Amino acid sequence: DVIDVRPLTGKGLFTYDPGFVSTAACESKITYIDGANGILLHRGYPIEQLAEKSDYLEVCYLLLNGELPTAEQKETFVNTVSNHTMVHEQLSQFFKGFRRDAHPMAIMCGVVGALSAFYHDSLDINNPHHREVCAYRLIAKMPTLAAMCYKYSIGQPFMHPQNELSYGENFLRMMFGTPCSEYKVNPVLARAMDRIFILHADHEQNASTSTVRLAGSSGANPFACIAAGIAALWGPAHGGANEAVLTMLDEIGDESNIAEFIEKAKDPNDPFRLMGFGHRVYRNFDPRAKVMKKTCDEVLALLGIENDPQLRIAKRLEQIALEDDYFVQRKLYPNVDFYSGIILKAIGIPTNMFTVIFALSRTIGWISHWNEFHSSPNKIGRPRQLYTGEKQRDYPA
Ligand code: ACO
Repeated sequence: DVIDVRPLTGKGLFTYDPGFVSTAACESKITYIDGANGILLHRGYPIEQLAEKSDYLEVCYLLLNGELPTAEQKETFVNTVSNHTMVHEQLSQFFKGFRRDAHPMAIMCGVVGALSAFYHDSLDINNPHHREVCAYRLIAKMPTLAAMCYKYSIGQPFMHPQNELSYGENFLRMMFGTPCSEYKVNPVLARAMDRIFILHADHEQNASTSTVRLAGSSGANPFACIAAGIAALWGPAHGGANEAVLTMLDEIGDESNIAEFIEKAKDPNDPFRLMGFGHRVYRNFDPRAKVMKKTCDEVLALLGIENDPQLRIAKRLEQIALEDDYFVQRKLYPNVDFYSGIILKAIGIPTNMFTVIFALSRTIGWISHWNEFHSSPNKIGRPRQLYTGEKQRDYPA
């Protein structure tokens, strides 16, 4: 007994699609996913090839501009991004308003949104040059802000970026270096970090990207739109899954408890799900997870910690899921967040920073979609609803 809204719109067809399972909200040329066959292409290039042969800043250029850069274009791009890595000193003061034990994603929502107060007047979203500068600023400042969140939480001084380092090296140095000791970045870990950035760079119209596009559709300031994307990413069904994986491994605690958790995950009356398993779009192995698994093995071997108890539980869970009928029938494979969580833990990144690193990586996807939206004729996003409330009635006399 619902009110039909069609007469209000004057339009013939009304679709009801909770969770946007089968409704396209836009056209896009950026990323293609074939979930049934485990295919992910950025601007036509397979993710496996990009992860193997490219680096994060090159992938940023590709997502933003549609083509891989020439050597000269890449050099200019890297230099330009490097010029924007510092954040305004006023913004550093902003951190002091947060509790030290605040979740870093809460701080990121605030400080990235606050960038809109620094870059407001000069921003004309209809001017391609202004949109480009906005992208440079975001790509460059996200690692600086992410590392500042961590340093603030442990009471250490902020580390300034060092622009001659690669993107991954610079981030690790800002996280783990201190002003009183030289921090030598291990190249294997820097490469692993870069792979994590590449593998999370874009994934077409996921919840956070759709949020950025929708917020952007009103003409809102892009830094505020990215803050909205960060908020959408935070949830455990989306970017929060990599943190949730480690929390779950903690709760399992011991290999002898794995069976009990598997049974809970299979129980239709129990809301518990195995974190890091399953994906809305991939009903086959997530191609990013394959690359991430390889990187994970490299990092664990390098650090000689294959026998870490938490990591042993993770490996055993993976084995079970690949063999258990429940998971096989539903095509629930470990997703990218399952392995990225393990790598980040091995590198020494605290669990509550995992989703921040996802946000940092995904910023290029968000800003590329925002830029694509504003580069072509567009409309403000305005989803419809199926009204199921009261019919019109009179206010009591
Ligand atoms: N553990 C146990 N069972 C699961 C899991 C899981 N992780 N994921 C799905 N299922 C089951 C569902 O209960 C359902 O079973 P049923 O058919 O018997 O009812 C079936 O598999 C299909 O699941 P849906 O809920 O329809 O899948 P949906 O596409 O809505 O959800 C999601 C996808 C949210 C990713 C889900 O698999 C999940 O919650 N996974 C855990 C969280 C996670 O890892 N999220 C990261 C996503 S990847 C990313 O954001 C980069």
